[in-house]
Amino acid sequence: MLTLKDVKENKDFKHMIKQANSYLSEKGYTEHGFRHVNYVSKYTEFILRELDYDDRLVELGAITGYLHDIGNMFNRKHHGISGANIVYTELRNIGVPLEEITAVTTAIANHDVDIGKAVSPITAALILADKSDAHRTRVNKKDSTFIHDRVNLAIQNSEIEVDSEDKTITLKIDYDSSISQVMDYFEIYLYRMEMCKEAASYLGCRFRLLINDLELLGHVNYQE
Ligand SMILES: [Fe+2]
Ligand SMILES: [Fe+2]
Repeated sequence: MLTLKDVKENKDFKHMIKQANSYLSEKGYTEHGFRHVNYVSKYTEFILRELDYDDRLVELGAITGYLHDIGNMFNRKHHGISGANIVYTELRNIGVPLEEITAVTTAIANHDVDIGKAVSPITAALILADKSDAHRTRVNKKDSTFIHDRVNLAIQNSEIEVDSEDKTITLKIDYDSSISQVMDYFEIYLYRMEMCKEAASYLGCRFRLLINDLELLGHVNYQE
């Protein structure tokens, strides 16, 4: 059975992740290399495990997180779909069962902001893990004036918490508003946060966003 360890040791995947990251940094995007894919792999796995999915699905989630951005080695546009195609071929070649491949590739093809949607537990967990990874260390140009970079530079720390009893998934962010206003965060990430809300609700949870300990999304409806 294919494990995350096998995938990480695979030379071809390693090369493709490097290639995807160097294409994106040429285009001025934030870091999408090994730090990002390891983060996404770890949190996809974490979310699924905390919500009690079975071990094999959790492992496939970790694999999906690690491979999700490989399509960027071609182009950013529709990189979810191109990535799914690449991963499909590679995993077929090494004899992974088709049902496992499709679980991984459907999630990869649906993680992207343009056309993505939480259509399975792995997809939902992947969306939450991926969209939560905004962080100052991802910015390649520390003196950038580009809004995406300023917002990322302002994020001192971000973490995801899952409360399986309370059925909440919380994204906690420490934000330095002397670098960029919190409104800027919403300007560029509001749609992503909507995606996270939808993904959390697919997993039967409420999504909460806490910036500097202030709950900005996720209030329970108190008008009842
Ligand atoms: Fe992506
Ligand atoms: Fe990503």
